[in-house]
Amino acid sequence: MKEQLEGLLQAALKDVDATTSEEALQELRIKYLGKKGALTSIMKGLGSLSVEERPLIGQLANTIKDRLEARIDDALTHAREIKKRERLERERLDVTLPGRRLPRGTRHPITLVIDEVSEIFAGLGFQVAEGPEVELDFYNFEALNFPKDHPARDMQDTFFVDDSVLLRTHTSPVQVRTMLKHTPPVRIISPGTVYRCDSDATHSPMFHQIEGFMVDKGVTFGDLKGILTTFVTQYFGTDIGVRLRPSFFPFTEPSAEVDIACVMCRGKGCRVCKQSGWLEVLGAGMIDPEVYRHVGYDPEAVSGFAFGMGIERIAMLKYGIGDMRLLFDNDLRFLSQFRGECG
Ligand code: PHE
Repeated sequence: MKEQLEGLLQAALKDVDATTSEEALQELRIKYLGKKGALTSIMKGLGSLSVEERPLIGQLANTIKDRLEARIDDALTHAREIKKRERLERERLDVTLPGRRLPRGTRHPITLVIDEVSEIFAGLGFQVAEGPEVELDFYNFEALNFPKDHPARDMQDTFFVDDSVLLRTHTSPVQVRTMLKHTPPVRIISPGTVYRCDSDATHSPMFHQIEGFMVDKGVTFGDLKGILTTFVTQYFGTDIGVRLRPSFFPFTEPSAEVDIACVMCRGKGCRVCKQSGWLEVLGAGMIDPEVYRHVGYDPEAVSGFAFGMGIERIAMLKYGIGDMRLLFDNDLRFLSQFRGECG
């Protein structure tokens, strides 16, 4: 049995030396040392030995088992090491390669205008407020002094949800909502989405406005003109002319339409300003006492002004965009031109 055992050791060591793969080494371990392996089957003959021989052979078997175990472990460590080195070699990184840039978004021109205009008015002490797009007739019309039969309520202009609920047609309802919540002084700027049943080359059923208003003791039309002139010169440039023309809105009295000198031709007359030299950019006026009555302000004690502008129009003028539909197409070739503006 001694020879048998030593023969097994030699054969096994030879096999291990000739094997490099991890799997094959595991198989060798089973073949020689497993429960049904070569060593076990030799040891089955232990019973036929004499009492003196038995411990000696037992000891020898244990030594052989330990040696073989250790050799297989060594070979396995070696095999794993080689495998790892091969993998590292395969996956080698070239840290000098330039990185892959992640595509970076840009802010939409509508968002840019909202942010820039809000910032200018923040500098003038105005706070930003928002209102719901699905609005009650009361805030959109009633409290703003639109008589029941006013054409602005017509189905052709307004998207009604039911008799008293509609999609707001302008941002002016925020005036009413704010004044019902806060006592004067108030100074608010309110950007947002508005809806009108209107769709052609220059009108979209969904568009954006910025509302501004201020109520305090002794606010005058001169304050309105001063604030709007400050805004226009800060936004479009110091040399841009501003003019106010009389106009009408149910919720302001007196009312005005505000023009700026054409940003394309600087007032000389061109296609954009239809040769007039002027562009209409805002509606404005002194808030009508009738509105104060709806919100519980005393028209004898306070006064104020309001103005509203269309954001799409401002964006087109500011960035020289010729077609309003570009603002809603979401064509990345157009939108990515506003690169670098992302904050
Ligand atoms: N809400 C008016 C519109 O949509 C604009 C406006 C706002 C006019 C505030 C006067 C004062 O046409």
